[in-house]
Amino acid sequence: MKTKITELFGIEYPIILPGMSWISVPELVAAVSNAGGIGYLATGPLSPAKTRESIRRIKALTNKPFGVGITLLMPGAHENAMVAIEEKVPVLNISLGKGEDLIKKVHAYNGKVIATVTTVQHALAAQKSGADALQVTGYEAAAHGSQVPTLVLIPAVVDAVKIPVVAIGGIADGRGMAAAFALGAEGIGMGTRLSITKESPVHDFCKKKQLESGIEDTIYSNRFDSLYCRVFKTPSAEKAYKQGRNLRKGFKASLAIAKAVDIPWMKLVTAASSSPKGEKSERPKESGANSGSASKPKEKKSLMDKMLKVPKMGMNLMHIAQAYVDIQHATETGDLDKGFYLSGQVQGIIHDIPTVAEVINRTVKEFLKIQEEIAAKIK
Ligand SMILES: Cc1cc2nc3c(=O)[nH]c(=O)nc-3n(C[C@H](O)[C@H](O)[C@H](O)COP(=O)(O)O)c2cc1C
Repeated sequence: MKTKITELFGIEYPIILPGMSWISVPELVAAVSNAGGIGYLATGPLSPAKTRESIRRIKALTNKPFGVGITLLMPGAHENAMVAIEEKVPVLNISLGKGEDLIKKVHAYNGKVIATVTTVQHALAAQKSGADALQVTGYEAAAHGSQVPTLVLIPAVVDAVKIPVVAIGGIADGRGMAAAFALGAEGIGMGTRLSITKESPVHDFCKKKQLESGIEDTIYSNRFDSLYCRVFKTPSAEKAYKQGRNLRKGFKASLAIAKAVDIPWMKLVTAASSSPKGEKSERPKESGANSGSASKPKEKKSLMDKMLKVPKMGMNLMHIAQAYVDIQHATETGDLDKGFYLSGQVQGIIHDIPTVAEVINRTVKEFLKIQEEIAAKIK
């Protein structure tokens, strides 16, 4: 199959596994690339040393092109991007921030850059900064999708830019792929679908719960981390949504993150305090026992007190940090009472746990069949 995306990345099928923390690990990335699509390594929770080790592991598992996902907003992102560039990864996927310098460095070794965006404004900015392609994430998506559904967002972006577009958000099969191509996309991404596969490291209990759930069983809110985010509807997610987040737990979580990604805690606070231009990042009002002291900073003393004197920095970090530990907990242990989990609306049309190759092969087959059926229908 040839599209601008297959040509750009040198892959067989224009199907992408996006970077999903703790899920898009070397084994899953390689499985997607070996099946003819392209997988991106998720580097959000990785230190630079772990990023390098993971890239080398992917290279050992596949000789096909693969990508590395860099969420520029995340602490340690620049350091991880530099590792990816040193390792000359074929594709760099950047999101939530400006990456002009990185794009130049990737182009210097003939690598490609695809920028993830959720608005027309950001699509234009990414094109201007030199990105080779765009990954455009609609409202239906798990995690940080647009405020606008894929059906409207993709043609709006396609009309505005000249570089090829990959549609993502709400796509799980050949029907979704056909719809995305009809809207002008030249490739698709599937997060929820590829996370519910045999090779995916997501805990079996989460996968099973998703299969039992419908298209309405997600919550889209800015109460989980610092941006609008879609999560699987569970009692713990509903509780977090209603009560706001627990700042004390968030503080503890931030110390754990600093350790995991191997950066000084203050640097973590600074990184978390910036949000990409134009992104909605307003926080819910905290109330009751969980409200911390953001509005009434105390006189001194502890690291936490100091941080909360800078409410925006403190609140940003507390939200991101808590979401980070809660999502990791559910993803790895399947404990949906304490943790919560990211999932797209498309979970409601997913009914099995196949291999990655099965997902890719049948998506392509169904897409080609639909093309013929539509052509035959219209006389
Ligand atoms: C379980 C899961 C974990 C995810 N983790 C991340 C993440 O760590 N960072 C991120 O930017 N997006 C994450 N995403 C979002 C995907 O990158 C992608 O944008 C989304 O899944 C696309 O929508 P879809 O699920 O409808 O295919 C995650 C998605 C899922 C399903």
